[in-house]
Amino acid sequence: MDKKNIRVCCGMTCGVMGSGKLMRKIQENTGLKAGEKNEKVDLNFCNCTGRCHMAPIVAVNGNFIDEAKEETILADIEEAATRPPQDPGIMDATVEEALNNDFLGDV
Ligand code: FES
Repeated sequence: MDKKNIRVCCGMTCGVMGSGKLMRKIQENTGLKAGEKNEKVDLNFCNCTGRCHMAPIVAVNGNFIDEAKEETILADIEEAATRPPQDPGIMDATVEEALNNDFLGDV
């Protein structure tokens, strides 16, 4: 299995639309915290991807999951990992930047 590079947008719109909940679900599933990686997953926040109109956004290996939903995010991550990358240049956010965003809730 190829390694998954998972990025959860921590921009304001995605934060308000639930990216904190998405990150918590992915953390529970992977056993990783934001900013950590193992042999299967590299998990972190990213800055605004410019797709705020489709918030919340999760990117997997450069593929966007638009209007990501907590109920389907784990299956959506598996599907997105099979597609060729849309945008490999997504900018990581530092965990400190993300945790300073009150709108993300408790992640
Ligand atoms: S805030 Fe997430 S895409 Fe802009």
